[in-house]
Amino acid sequence: MPRLLPIVLTLSTPFLLGLASLGCSSSGGGGGGSSATSGVTSATSSQTTTATTTPTPSTGPIANTPPPAAPPPATGGNAPIPTTSEDRYYNPHVRGTLLNYCTSCHASSSNQAALNAYELSGFPTDPMSFNNTKDRTNDLDPEASLLLQKALGNNHGGGAILKRSDVGYAWLVNWIRQGSRLDEFENAPRTFARNIQPILDRGCFGCHSGGAGGFRIGTDLQANYQQMLSVTETAVPTNSRVIQKCDGGISHTGGAPWAVGRPERDVVIQWIVDGRRFQ
Ligand code: HEC
Ligand code: HEC
Repeated sequence: MPRLLPIVLTLSTPFLLGLASLGCSSSGGGGGGSSATSGVTSATSSQTTTATTTPTPSTGPIANTPPPAAPPPATGGNAPIPTTSEDRYYNPHVRGTLLNYCTSCHASSSNQAALNAYELSGFPTDPMSFNNTKDRTNDLDPEASLLLQKALGNNHGGGAILKRSDVGYAWLVNWIRQGSRLDEFENAPRTFARNIQPILDRGCFGCHSGGAGGFRIGTDLQANYQQMLSVTETAVPTNSRVIQKCDGGISHTGGAPWAVGRPERDVVIQWIVDGRRFQ
């Protein structure tokens, strides 16, 4: 049962987004009139804000996701989209927008053309979704990003999904303007709770909740952490049993979900290099 929790939290984001796009934007005043800023100005302000952010330890993979902040005011036509600092990270705004508008075709769907072009997972906290999204941004000219052009329906197999006046569009633009960063922990060491558990939730829980092969991934974060310690080694991280099992190095009934080059593999190796922290 507790496994359902992250999914419920995840689904609530698009719901809130939906409300926001109906016009419940009340306290967006912070970014409101302040700035039809140039890229330079917004980059500067984002650096300033970041320096004052105090990272708080997370208690779980999704539990650290705050509720969406007040959305930026919607604009129409060609009006400049105001920059706010509320929406500078992938989590939760961009992730929520993708869940609301894009995963229906771009994640585990039967739309093979959409998946081939741009793959997300139905659980877009994972590194693949973040990397594939960031790869389609243009930091020099955010609104020219392939991501946004496709979303607006510019030569897009999915047609016009977002309007320029949608809050979801503003969130994407502002995220790109402010450096397309994952979250305030992006430059912090990788931790089990924040970085590894979401990967295990998505790809391993289904088979390993029953302890297949003696590797048990359940609902207890500490127990899962101990399991991961037992199948990793720090001397040569790539020799870790879990890496070899999952990148095709040794045979595995679960296949090679972390094939060489997959972001999941890189994150797990980086977590080992960073000292296999719990959080
Ligand atoms: C109704 C299905 C559908 C929906 C919903 C959809 N897309 Fe697509 N998308 C496609 C298809 C089909 C393609 C492949 C053809 C093409 O490139 O346009 C595609 C391609 C893309 C590409 C091109 C990737 C590349 O590197 O070539 C991007 C970027 C993209 N979509 C972004 C989005 C975003 C962002 C959303 C949500 C705001 C979205 N799509 C929603 C169907 C969809
Ligand atoms: C389709 C089911 C399936 C999936 C999905 C799956 N596994 Fe497995 N895994 C197994 C089975 C069955 C075994 C035991 C037999 C074997 O090694 O193939 C196993 C064995 C292992 C072992 C070896 C335990 C040991 O020390 O011998 C590790 C480590 C492991 N899996 C990690 C993972 C991770 C991490 C994921 C997610 C990225 C994953 N598996 C996804 C079915 C799966």
